[in-house]
Amino acid sequence: MDTEIGTSGITLYGLEGFAGMRTAGQLAAEALDMLVEYVVPGVTTEALDQRVMEFARDHKAVPAPLNYRGFPKGICTSVNHVVCHGIPGPKPLREGDIVNIDVTLIVDGWHGDTSRMFSVGQIPRKAERLVDVTYESLMRGIAAVKPGQTTGHIGEAIQTFAEGQRCSVVREFCGHGLGLNFHEPPNILHYGKAGEGVELKPGMIFTIEPMINLGRAPVKVLPDGWTAVTRDRQLSAQFEHSIGVTEDGCEVFTLSPKGYHCPPFAVAA
Ligand code: MF3
Ligand code: CO
Ligand code: CO
Repeated sequence: MDTEIGTSGITLYGLEGFAGMRTAGQLAAEALDMLVEYVVPGVTTEALDQRVMEFARDHKAVPAPLNYRGFPKGICTSVNHVVCHGIPGPKPLREGDIVNIDVTLIVDGWHGDTSRMFSVGQIPRKAERLVDVTYESLMRGIAAVKPGQTTGHIGEAIQTFAEGQRCSVVREFCGHGLGLNFHEPPNILHYGKAGEGVELKPGMIFTIEPMINLGRAPVKVLPDGWTAVTRDRQLSAQFEHSIGVTEDGCEVFTLSPKGYHCPPFAVAA
């Protein structure tokens, strides 16, 4: 199958695209695996950014966020009530924090985009619950991906589960098509109804990246123009995978090589 542009303006990628995304996705997941041992009380998020910048250089990859629409760093680090697009900085992480680290690496033009939650030392039980609900939300969204279903099936699977756990789904940000571009059609909403949106077809490549809040859904963006926070200042969590639609389901390009899917990560001694 060669790459073609479908009628909806959504690129259907062929074997070359899937191979490129596999390589880029694996490297991005490896970068997150590499960070696990460094996410400890006292580390700054800019030190974690530096680790990924060096990892990218050593692997001949380019961190896509750097200078993307003026974003100043190579990764996003979103701590506690920060929903997404947190900018790495000099403030140390503290015991009990939860942090989303979002890595996008470009390898030979292909974008591998993935994020996970990390716990800093021991975290409160309510934070643990939110992280678990958010991971399960992503995996239920992924399980809904199949040709003939719609993007609305993905949103419904995520929304139904998250709200059933008394959590809320952020509306202002969504998953996105990607490949040779960082962001392209289709938009993948993390809420909605089966049958809404666009029909899924083999060859579509996109992210699913639900942001789930312990409190209410509304968010606001801080004056830095990037940092999105919950309006009620309650905790928010997010996980993200890049996937490709296959004939009978999907391929996840950004699985953790070390099995660090969801914290607490059992790190081998
Ligand atoms: N990686 C984010 C996503 O999942 C996008 C970050 S854009 C940035 O789509 F500019 F904030 F880095
Ligand atoms: Co993304
Ligand atoms: Co991302």
